[in-house]
Amino acid sequence: MIVMHHGESVWEQIKAKAGVDIDVFMSNENYSDDITYKLVGAASEVLNLPTEQILIGFAEHWVLHTASEGYGGLMKASGKTLPEFMRNLPNFHSRVTLIFPKLQPPHFECTDITDHSLKLHYYSHRNGLAPFVVGLMQRLGKNFKTPAVVRPVAVKDQGADHDVFEVAWNPNRA
Ligand code: HEM
Repeated sequence: MIVMHHGESVWEQIKAKAGVDIDVFMSNENYSDDITYKLVGAASEVLNLPTEQILIGFAEHWVLHTASEGYGGLMKASGKTLPEFMRNLPNFHSRVTLIFPKLQPPHFECTDITDHSLKLHYYSHRNGLAPFVVGLMQRLGKNFKTPAVVRPVAVKDQGADHDVFEVAWNPNRA
């Protein structure tokens, strides 16, 4: 994402600030979460943007590029509409775990499902990644041509047991 939007030299600057000297990330290897947090922090400083915005931007980029180019089949098989895709979300990473056995993925649950909204429960052993979820949901909504409004209704970083988002869309476009 950084190379695409800001060029190679800004990426090198961010890696240097983060103290990360990995040249190529392998998609089938796992890396310490510390690397992710350091890169997000350094990107926030170098680009002078809040970390939330870096995570939302990265989520958009991930859906637009990584998921569609690397996992198009799995994404397509998971739903033809945003509500259908969301209802399949709880099973998503169990399928991905078959590809990456060392995964420690988040867990999702959908409750309060209506024809225009649902509550998305996000459980993770990691902290601080809720904006990434918001960015993913917003971008997925746009991809399905069902723009979604994503509103946090419980926030783990503020003491809630886990994050809960209300995701709402126009039922006529779903
Ligand atoms: C083909 C599609 C997908 C693949 C291959 C995939 C793969 C992964 C992988 C490899 C991780 C890192 C986990 C780890 O290292 O332990 C991850 C994390 C994550 N994924 Fe997915 N994922 C996919 C779809 C999605 C979708 C549709 C969502 C929607 C909300 C999502 C939400 C997340 C979040 C929030 C994390 C951050 C880690 C955490 O919260 O603990 N993923 N995913």
